[in-house]
Amino acid sequence: MWLFLTILLAVSHHALGTNPGLESVITQKALEYAKQVGASLAQEQLGGLAIPDITGSISIFPFGKVDYSLSGMHVVDFNLPEPEVGFAEEAGVKIGISGMSVAIHGTWRDRYHLIRDSGSFDLAVYGLTVSVLVGVGSDSTGHLIVSSANCDASVADLEVTLHGSTRWLYKPFTNKIKDLAHKQLNRKLCPMISEYIDGLEPLLQKINVSYQYDPYVVFEFPLIHPPAIGTSNMEFDCKGEFYSVEHRKEFPFTPELFQLHDQNHMVSVGLSQSSANSAGFAYHSAGVLWIRLTDSMIPKVSPIRLNTTSFESFVPELPKRYPDMLMLVDLFSSQQPLITFQPDNVTAQAFGSAKVYVILPNATLVPVFVLDICVSFSAKLFMSGLKLTGSMTLNNVSLNLASSELGPFQTKSMENVIRAGIHLVVLPKVNAKLKRGIPLPATPKVSLVNPVLKVNQGFVMLATDISYSP
Ligand SMILES: *[C@@H]1O[C@H](CO)[C@@H](O)[C@H](O)[C@H]1NC(C)=O
Ligand SMILES: *[C@@H]1O[C@H](CO)[C@@H](O)[C@H](O)[C@H]1NC(C)=O
Ligand SMILES: *[C@@H]1O[C@H](CO)[C@@H](O)[C@H](O)[C@H]1NC(C)=O
Ligand SMILES: *[C@@H]1O[C@H](CO)[C@@H](O)[C@H](O)[C@H]1NC(C)=O
Ligand SMILES: *[C@@H]1O[C@H](CO)[C@@H](O)[C@H](O)[C@H]1NC(C)=O
Repeated sequence: MWLFLTILLAVSHHALGTNPGLESVITQKALEYAKQVGASLAQEQLGGLAIPDITGSISIFPFGKVDYSLSGMHVVDFNLPEPEVGFAEEAGVKIGISGMSVAIHGTWRDRYHLIRDSGSFDLAVYGLTVSVLVGVGSDSTGHLIVSSANCDASVADLEVTLHGSTRWLYKPFTNKIKDLAHKQLNRKLCPMISEYIDGLEPLLQKINVSYQYDPYVVFEFPLIHPPAIGTSNMEFDCKGEFYSVEHRKEFPFTPELFQLHDQNHMVSVGLSQSSANSAGFAYHSAGVLWIRLTDSMIPKVSPIRLNTTSFESFVPELPKRYPDMLMLVDLFSSQQPLITFQPDNVTAQAFGSAKVYVILPNATLVPVFVLDICVSFSAKLFMSGLKLTGSMTLNNVSLNLASSELGPFQTKSMENVIRAGIHLVVLPKVNAKLKRGIPLPATPKVSLVNPVLKVNQGFVMLATDISYSP
């Protein structure tokens, strides 16, 4: 189960509004799968499990005090019935095992006055029943926390067989050992379980609640409140906001409220439109959305070059003032790009300014005009196997003259050329890439099974099963 809990996590004081930007839901199906994985891990760990030595003294009537030690104890056989797991509403996850049996082998030693004796023993534990409620919550840093909220554990019966001499002590000693083991087990099982659960705490604290995507932006996804636990699922509401690493600023929007309803998959993850837009905001704030275009970057096949001769038809004045000189363009985002999620349609609008320069023979740059550019694309995205695929189309390009050193001129023909360039050069490349597909992230141990992607109004959702191979 930790596997699922750890996939997405953690917190809160600087959360955007109250709605999560990133939401994840795990279902009963996930618990069922986690149960199988957990049971097979337990099978491996229980086989040969060493048990700490026990030493002490017991008083056996009418002989008096006998010192004993039990050592070298290990599990030789066990029968682990299928556990039961389920969500406990508003509390956590309950785990129950009933009727487990365990066979333990070890060495006993006793000392009664000067008499020492030793041998081996077999201990069989029957009807081991455990029911634990693992409380699930979050801390002030948005990490998941777990606690042993409730525990009941008992052993129905025990059988002890001592191998060795101590004939005179055999019966009373065996009975004492049996009582002792029974009491110890009943008393210590729950503390042992709690200790185990508390031991998960440092592991949970180590789970990152932010991910540095590249040198410029970081994605933060602490839990904004404790997980919401229903009867059939558990929901993790995370912040889900991108920030510029160097120019950290709060994205001035509140995520739209959305609900994930998928119950057919183990896990579903939803990302809100605002969360996606915070990425554009972060890149824009970081000042990295710019590019310097030169003639050498224009595809060889293009009849239009970045030089004043070539620009004659768009700006007749240009070659008159600067005959046959190369040009360059600084293209940068003038405001953050906008992404819109509509059913089966992702639209991205980019807003840029293009500062156009002529390069004089002595390499001096002379600014000649500035264009405002707005481009809008739409994409359909879906999963094909384990890859994200789709197709993109151009909705709109608009070009407007913002300022000019050469007097006013029409931008319509330049706009047409850019539109043609996007159709002929950009879209075929992007669509070829989308058609090949972009693999979803996977780790050597955890892989996705039958993922489904759905773009909805205001959010995008990925629902998937998971396969874990230790
Ligand atoms: C967690 O974040 C730290 C710092 O950003 C990074 O060094 C580390 O590799 C991350 N761990 C994982 C598992 O991503
Ligand atoms: C400018 O572009 C034209 C093609 O439009 C080309 O014939 C010419 O050689 C180019 N001039 C420079 C300086 O690159
Ligand atoms: C997607 O949405 C955009 C913006 O609303 C719209 O212009 C475009 O036609 C839509 N595309 C499809 C395939 O529905
Ligand atoms: C480059 O040439 C122009 C025009 O001939 C001149 O105004 C400018 O000062 C020159 N720049 C340098 C750095 O030589
Ligand atoms: C398309 O461009 C026109 C101006 O050329 C603009 O009015 C309109 O809002 C744009 N539409 C989109 C979806 O960007």
